[in-house]
Amino acid sequence: MSGQTITLVTGANKGIGYEIAAGLGALGWSVGVGARDEARRDAAVRRLRAGGADAFGVPLDVTDDASVAAAARLLEERAGRLDVLVNNAGVTGGMPQTPTTVDLSAVRTALETNVVGVIRVTNALLPLLRRSASPRIVNMSSSVGSLTRQTSSDGETGPISAAYAPSKSFLNALTVQYAKELRDTNILINAACPGYCATDLNGHRGVRTAEQGAAIAIRLASLADDGPTGGFFDEDGVVPW
Ligand SMILES: NC(=O)c1ccc[n+]([C@@H]2O[C@H](COP(=O)([O-])OP(=O)(O)OC[C@H]3O[C@@H](n4cnc5c(N)ncnc54)[C@H](OP(=O)(O)O)[C@@H]3O)[C@@H](O)[C@H]2O)c1
Repeated sequence: MSGQTITLVTGANKGIGYEIAAGLGALGWSVGVGARDEARRDAAVRRLRAGGADAFGVPLDVTDDASVAAAARLLEERAGRLDVLVNNAGVTGGMPQTPTTVDLSAVRTALETNVVGVIRVTNALLPLLRRSASPRIVNMSSSVGSLTRQTSSDGETGPISAAYAPSKSFLNALTVQYAKELRDTNILINAACPGYCATDLNGHRGVRTAEQGAAIAIRLASLADDGPTGGFFDEDGVVPW
């Protein structure tokens, strides 16, 4: 088995996920570029390799059981283990999504990708992560999932949302539950908020770059063995639940 750190970033063909992949590649780590569209995946892998990263493509739709199982097989055959999983793929489900008028398909779409997708990918890859000396899982959440921020008068809350923001609250809760179950293992699992970054997700209205947003995920992916687990962090530190 290679001594090189083996990583997988879901939704790595663009936006924050691409920058996470670039950042992990810059550490000298091998980066699996999880992406569902072949052309976008190949383009991202080419760009990452041109920048010096040891990148490889991993066909991956987080909403599809067969696709996730195939991704696990690809990683098993390529490396025999996984050291870092970044669950970054995410969707809003479509806006607007005010609770009283929301189209239920928006709720289902957001939950299927942002929550069920994370469980599907994490559980399929856990056998490979358990073979790592220092496994790390990073769930890309958002401060809009913070109920504390949502209910504080001066908090950063984002638009009123019946799908996207609650999906990130669910993801945060899920991160805590995984950490509890895995507390007697060497797996560290944390949620990250990248801040409001200009990407396709928000029509590029964000005020930070995707590269800035990627930094917290890269930090949580490279935690020391005595690092935190079951927490929620942005670049300033702990984010309230
Ligand atoms: N941008 C922000 O301000 C912000 C703030 C807080 C949290 N976040 C979170 O950060 C993460 C990345 O967001 P972003 O802003 O970089 O958005 P983005 O530019 O829209 O990128 C989203 C990525 O997820 C992928 N994806 C979506 N559904 C997928 C699926 N079913 N299977 C595999 N990949 C899928 C997309 O692939 P395709 O190209 O195929 O669609 C794309 O690569 C998300 O979890 C988001 O919720 C973003």
